[in-house]
Amino acid sequence: MTLAERLALAAFHKMDPEAAHGLALKALSTPFAPRPGVTTSPRLKTSVAGLDLPNPVGLAAGFDKNAVAVSPLMQSGFGFLEVGAATPRPQPGNPKPRLFRLSEDQGVINRFGFNNDGVETIADRLSMRPSGIPVGLNLGANKDSDDKAADFAKVLAVAGAHVDFATVNVSSPNTEKLRDLQGKDALAALLAQVMDAKVALPKALPVFLKIAPDLTDAELSEVAAVARNAGVDAIIATNTTLDRSSLSSQHKGEAGGLSGRPLFAKSTRVLARLSQELGEDMPLIGVGGISSGADALAKIKAGASAVQLYSALTYQGLSLVGDIVREIDKAVSDAGANSVSDLVGTEVERWL
Ligand code: FNR
Repeated sequence: MTLAERLALAAFHKMDPEAAHGLALKALSTPFAPRPGVTTSPRLKTSVAGLDLPNPVGLAAGFDKNAVAVSPLMQSGFGFLEVGAATPRPQPGNPKPRLFRLSEDQGVINRFGFNNDGVETIADRLSMRPSGIPVGLNLGANKDSDDKAADFAKVLAVAGAHVDFATVNVSSPNTEKLRDLQGKDALAALLAQVMDAKVALPKALPVFLKIAPDLTDAELSEVAAVARNAGVDAIIATNTTLDRSSLSSQHKGEAGGLSGRPLFAKSTRVLARLSQELGEDMPLIGVGGISSGADALAKIKAGASAVQLYSALTYQGLSLVGDIVREIDKAVSDAGANSVSDLVGTEVERWL
């Protein structure tokens, strides 16, 4: 971490977390923000569900919900970005405060509830981004929608032409009844609508499914089977958790989804279970609690073809991205392998 980054983070941590995040997003678009550019090497290049990634480390959904900082984020060292969640209509989300730092635990709790500018505005912004790394959109449902399942297809229909992938997010804990859509029949029906919207798009694009870490093993098997049958191109494991075990921070009792370090083991276990269940048929993207190169490598070895992160950026800044990418590059070289893809799934059993 640079001195400037350390000072900026210390200042942000004295502020209200949501205000600090808004300021950080604005700061990214100023000339003072570091823009190391895309970090890549022949060892780091990989392909996930037909997307060519310069490296396997992506930005998780929720960091840039409204696609206001896509251009600078594309130059921050990531191999791909996911923005959103976007819902069909703009909505304000839940009352504030709704974002909490759990510093002692290196975690975050949020209960934003899909606050966003709506898909029309977000799609306009995405249409104006420069070319470069793949950028995807997280699809969400409006809180007051009569047909939440239909909202996902609606968002895809509006924004699909302007993104490289789309993620069906039925795993946010902050919209009432959303996670019910992970049930077998509800999920199959929802995915069928999304796949119809996908076929109607002017260009082909992979559709991912993002799942919660709080599913039982039986539920996980069902979701895996439904995803495979529906033709989902990859699964993102996982979203935030409702679990509150072994936390010490004062905000541990806040309602919402927990992310960051306390989520690492749980989300990695879900990833490994999916890898065991689906084998090489389905690419997996590992997310949850990554705060170092070692963590990213653990996810890759547990079955992830690529990884994403968010919460650790709050504690370590964006320079963490380059550090993680370089550590992966070194690990591939140290293993005598040619590509990061050679390490995928080499230690699945460790998590089962
Ligand atoms: C999120 N996350 C999230 N996920 C999603 O699919 N759609 C969303 O809109 C959001 N919004 C969101 C807001 C905030 C403040 C946080 C902290 C997280 C979940 C995120 O993409 C990721 O799955 C989890 O945070 C786990 O990764 P980390 O943060 O532990 O690296």
